Amino acid sequence: MALKITVIGTGYLGATHAAAMAELGFEVLGLDVVPEKIEMLAAGKVPMYEPGLEELLRLHVAGIEGSSGRLRFTTSYEEAADFGDIHFVCVNTPQKHGEYACDMSYVDSAFASLAPHLKRPALVVGKSTVPVGSAERLARLLEENAPAGPDVELAWNPEFLREGFAVDDTLHPDRIVVGVRSERAEKLLREVYTTPVGEGSPFVVTDFPTAELVKTAANSFLATKISFINAMAEVCEAAGGDVVKLAEAIGHDERIGAKFLRAGVGFGGGCLPKDIRAFMARAGELGADQALTFLREVDSINMRRRGHMVELAREAVGGTSFLGKRVAVLGATFKPDSDDVRDSPALNVAGQIHLQGGQVTVYDPKGMENARRLFPTLGYADTALEAVRGADVVLHLTEWLEFRRLDPAELKEAVASPIILDGRNALDAGTWRGAGWTYRAMGRPRA
Ligand code: UDX
Repeated sequence: MALKITVIGTGYLGATHAAAMAELGFEVLGLDVVPEKIEMLAAGKVPMYEPGLEELLRLHVAGIEGSSGRLRFTTSYEEAADFGDIHFVCVNTPQKHGEYACDMSYVDSAFASLAPHLKRPALVVGKSTVPVGSAERLARLLEENAPAGPDVELAWNPEFLREGFAVDDTLHPDRIVVGVRSERAEKLLREVYTTPVGEGSPFVVTDFPTAELVKTAANSFLATKISFINAMAEVCEAAGGDVVKLAEAIGHDERIGAKFLRAGVGFGGGCLPKDIRAFMARAGELGADQALTFLREVDSINMRRRGHMVELAREAVGGTSFLGKRVAVLGATFKPDSDDVRDSPALNVAGQIHLQGGQVTVYDPKGMENARRLFPTLGYADTALEAVRGADVVLHLTEWLEFRRLDPAELKEAVASPIILDGRNALDAGTWRGAGWTYRAMGRPRA
């Protein structure tokens, strides 16, 4: 009989995983404790912007005309426990307020709510990003609370999906990592992933701590790579070099690779910043903090980028103060093709300039609603052209395709002063300069 799958937590990760599992042919039940989220998903609507996800969901949600009907939703742990052979736990682990450590309360509460209902054999699979050692503790929690006793087992199966590419990353992962304690658990997970998903993807079998660490190590490496190139951008600025050329040149070395070498305002989002901080916090608890002191530097190089952009903007509007100056900010999300504004460098820069007295107007293709909620005191415009009207400087802080397609000549007519600061090194300098703009980028020579 085909395996039945539940997915607990229906955020970016869970909603995508649930839709992908249904796409692979499994009967899937998605669970979330927020009834409004479940209502939306059950109606085939995705509560965030993620390219391709809503389309995939609508192919499978029961009750939608023409769908496979394989995907349903609930708020009941009892129903989920009765239904599933495999329970994927996909709840988030945000950074704790005012601390480096991550907040495990959603994971803990998901396990505590599910366990007492597990009356039949099941494999519980953690996918959330957690501090190493959590799986061991959660396995004990299941052991002590699941009525089916040893027939309930835990596995750890981290995910590596990127926002904006979540569907593709889930359906075509570049590796599948499973931390298991028994052949049965490994066999079940191979059964789940030995479908078009698993085809061609390396399947790495390991223990709990290694599986947990793979995720934090991968994100730490990516963050380090970005901060490395941003450190080079600082040196380039001091020495008159061009970090874009430098990245291109070192990226040709296959051992280095060209990806994640885009210098600019740095990384943000719900993963990289909080994951490196939680990793440092956990290493400290384990007495291995020295091993990760470099991540402190990675974090501070990254945060320095935001301050540096504020300084470049101040210089562009006269060098002393933002008072009475209009600053247009193109971009609010932490990266393009997402509506996520969590720890967004763009909004952080906008917020700093606003606090220093500048009149900031923000425009973003998809992130306006979330940005307004987070920073209600900033000014917002409905188009890029509206945002730049009367601006003394324009900041390009999220590299949406829409911004690369802007007409510099048209925008020049709208601004007070045609100065653009490219915080993502993504605009074509020649085109902007050719249209009469002063174009400045991060880590590149001034024209
Ligand atoms: C990341 C990891 O890539 C993913 O594998 C993991 O599962 C979750 O965390 P995500 O947060 O969606 O994914 O975004 P990512 O594409 O990694 O970008 C993170 C941040 O780094 C963005 O703010 C992006 O603008 C920035 N970035 C990325 C750079 O500044 N330069 C680069 O070269 C690449």
